[in-house]
Amino acid sequence: MRAVVLVGGFGTRLRPLTNSVPKPMLPVGHQPMIARLVERLGGGGVTEVVLALGFRPEPFMEAFPDGRCGDVALTYAVEPEPLDTAGAIRFAAESAGIDDTFVVANGDVMTDLDVAALVAEHRRFGAEATIHLIGVDDPSSFGVVDMADNGSVKAFVEKPAPGEEPSNLINAGTYVFEPSVLARIPDGRVSIERATFPMIADDGGMYGYATDDYWIDAGRPEFYRAANLDLLSGVRRDQGCEAISPLARVHPEAMIRNSVVGDRVDVAAGASVVDSVLLPDARVEAHASVEASLVMGVVRPHAVVRDSMVGATGVVAEHATLECSATPLPEA
Ligand code: GDD
Ligand code: MG
Repeated sequence: MRAVVLVGGFGTRLRPLTNSVPKPMLPVGHQPMIARLVERLGGGGVTEVVLALGFRPEPFMEAFPDGRCGDVALTYAVEPEPLDTAGAIRFAAESAGIDDTFVVANGDVMTDLDVAALVAEHRRFGAEATIHLIGVDDPSSFGVVDMADNGSVKAFVEKPAPGEEPSNLINAGTYVFEPSVLARIPDGRVSIERATFPMIADDGGMYGYATDDYWIDAGRPEFYRAANLDLLSGVRRDQGCEAISPLARVHPEAMIRNSVVGDRVDVAAGASVVDSVLLPDARVEAHASVEASLVMGVVRPHAVVRDSMVGATGVVAEHATLECSATPLPEA
């Protein structure tokens, strides 16, 4: 089975990290999130993934130069301009000649969903489109469904105003489509969530498969951090990671607690790192403190970084305090 994975967004909510690395190439437990996602799709029977790219395709091509990620073959569909989610799916599916049932995934979804079970449910429903659903406490920043008892989706609303959500069941970003979905997508910029899903739901062809699997959208700062730390705590079904990369240099008099320390990171004597992710090549210098943060750049001696993101070119000056710079940007 083939899959289209959407990786062409701008990753604005993870700026400044995404100024240097596209969101799906950011590491989760020392591996690019796209590699974890492709591996999961492969485990569910996907043999070929088409990466739907728009913005900066080079880092993907460099990371997978032989066109494979594990056992899965990779091809690339590079959009001439961002076509939004539905436009990108159609462009990628047409470039790969997809003409059979196929899987689609958002490139920032980290989950333990069994993709083969989603495909089996899709066939059992006889659906045109089946989407994976997850129950959450605050659904308003996601796509939300109104579902009938037989699993059919009566209505799909993208990012409803708080208080106007039809349920707590959200679109978890993995889909199975019949090729007829492609014929519903007009030329140009089209959103699958705002245009295509409501149309298929109205026609009675859309179904939902709700599970209570581990699930996180790693495209938001707090969740990107959690996606990393959750690999340390054992909440993932079959996945975990080393807290400290063997390629990192951590001084014996540094303190690391509940944190992921990436490749080639340097942590100096007296520094403390708590509940944080230090991305590849980050430096935390002597007696600096990093807490609940995501750091790619340099934290100078005695500086304090709390609830913040520091990009690849970011330098927090000696004795300075950086606090709460990780506030997500408002939705576009
Ligand atoms: N190729 C391409 N072109 N990809 C795109 C484009 C585009 O123009 N625009 C967005 N994408 C990709 C992003 O890279 C991401 O992998 C995926 O499409 C979804 O975009 P996000 O920006 O991450 O959307 P979201 O998180 O606000 O909402 C989506 O995911 C939620 C679950 O995580 C929606 O699908 C919601 O309905 C859903 O609940
Ligand atoms: Mg997202």
